[in-house]
Amino acid sequence: MQANPIPPVQCIGIPRETFPGEKRVATVPDVVEKLIKLGFRVAVESGAGDAANFSDDAYRAAGAEILGDAAALWAASDIVFKVRPPSSDEVARMREGTTLIDFIWPAQNPELMQQLAARKATVLAIDCLPRTLSRAQKMDALTSTAGVSGYRAVIEAANAFGRFFNGQITAAGKVPPAKVFIAGAGVAGLAAIGTAANLGAIVRANDTRAEVADQVKSLGGEFVKVDYEEEGSGGGGYAKVMSEGFQAAQRQMYAEQAKDADIIITTALIPGKPAPKLITAEMVQSMKPGSVIVDMAAEQGGNCELTVPGQAVVRHGVTIVGYTDLASRLAKQSSTLYATNLLRLTEELCKAKDGVAVVNMEDDAIRGLTVVKDGAITWPAPPLKQAPAPAPKAAAAPVAVQKSSHGPGEPMSAKTLTIVFAVLAVLFWAIGAYAPVAFLGHFTVFVLACFIGYMVVWNVTPALHTPLMSVTNAISSIIAIGALVQIAPPDAGINGRPDGLILWLAFAALVLTAVNMFGGFAVTRRMLAMFRK
Ligand code: NAI
Repeated sequence: MQANPIPPVQCIGIPRETFPGEKRVATVPDVVEKLIKLGFRVAVESGAGDAANFSDDAYRAAGAEILGDAAALWAASDIVFKVRPPSSDEVARMREGTTLIDFIWPAQNPELMQQLAARKATVLAIDCLPRTLSRAQKMDALTSTAGVSGYRAVIEAANAFGRFFNGQITAAGKVPPAKVFIAGAGVAGLAAIGTAANLGAIVRANDTRAEVADQVKSLGGEFVKVDYEEEGSGGGGYAKVMSEGFQAAQRQMYAEQAKDADIIITTALIPGKPAPKLITAEMVQSMKPGSVIVDMAAEQGGNCELTVPGQAVVRHGVTIVGYTDLASRLAKQSSTLYATNLLRLTEELCKAKDGVAVVNMEDDAIRGLTVVKDGAITWPAPPLKQAPAPAPKAAAAPVAVQKSSHGPGEPMSAKTLTIVFAVLAVLFWAIGAYAPVAFLGHFTVFVLACFIGYMVVWNVTPALHTPLMSVTNAISSIIAIGALVQIAPPDAGINGRPDGLILWLAFAALVLTAVNMFGGFAVTRRMLAMFRK
């Protein structure tokens, strides 16, 4: 009899990034340990993590094998993790049938897609993740990269700007706070708003999607509206190209902001389209000398007419930063987040934890990511079968808490409500008619408690349920009163003290309930602190 062959454990390879100036690496030592726990072997090209401050020794200590050169690494790997799309040389080094997990941008790189298909590869393009699937958010490398880039954009602006961000009163005089205007409040824009506000600047922001106004406010910014009514959402949380009328009104508003702002950070993008030109040459000219523009859309053509991609240039006295490697400039941070995103994806691919990745095309998230399967191009994926989760309120920081106007469930229909009330009325009548008198007292209290509990909890937004429950728990510690009554009964003067066992039990009850009460308030404080800035 022939036994089923056990597939051999696969090797995940991490090559050194070859794109000029790229400092990131696709995995980090902490994540190597977790990949090994999933059953994989991990091989790292010598020096792959150097630019992000992860040494070969650190990878070795985590259990990875260090291979001397790229050729050996690609030859040894069944699965390759990378950051930048592979070069033609790298594709040529791939073994047939290799699985590649990487940023690919298939729409922009049709030739690369053909090359990968010719190698009979399976390619999971991390940029094609269906981001609106709530299950996929842990793998969303676009969001983690945009968050890092938004932060770094503010740091670059601060570096090029000749003043403080926060207002100060010093012996040498009063310093006004810097005014920062952010164009586009997506993931990167929100991260920039939070960072600039934390540095003490006055932050204003605009986006064509009006729904982001609350998110801007929750991060300490002010949302500046365009004086023109038009819905800016193009689906999936992304923007659409706006009408001529809107664009004209927006230009006018941006021209006013440019005259007033010290720093402009632009992040506006529309998927599959060139970046909208929001900052004209005249607007740059109208800015104060020494002002700074950081154009995060530089790689997609730029939001500013005078941006030079990849460079910082000075035009009309304004520094225009067009760096296209903002995430790579925080290489350690972005590599760590990217590595964690890829680990979460690997967990999805290897549910059996046996060191073998299975690309399940029935899984919506995996299907969306898979752009080449065993040499066949499978991009673009069909639209999602499953209804998308609502877009997160803010990707970069906790959101402001709002009271919801209705409960979490759908309201009952009038017919169902009548039936429920009729059944309850009959039940109460039966209890009132037959139950003992002592029971009725307790029962009334119970019904009232249920009613009050319902009224208290139902109108509260679900995010606040834990703090609310912990505080109601704390104040409902009726056990404390019971225990106190046992320790010092009201008739103690007549009958003497209660016996030892009761005293000790009451004392224990008091201690335990004290933990509940103080713990409840502590949990409430911690939970509420998460919603405060
Ligand atoms: P992005 O990088 O494509 O665009 C950046 C921002 O520019 C967007 O907020 C967009 O509305 C804005 N924009 C485009 N054209 C503009 C114009 N002419 N003027 C002003 N602003 C303009 O988008 P990103 O940051 O990758 O994601 C955008 C949104 O997608 C997020 O804020 C979120 O709501 C949603 N999203 C949803 C996810 C989910 O549901 N799980 C995951 C990630 C993002």
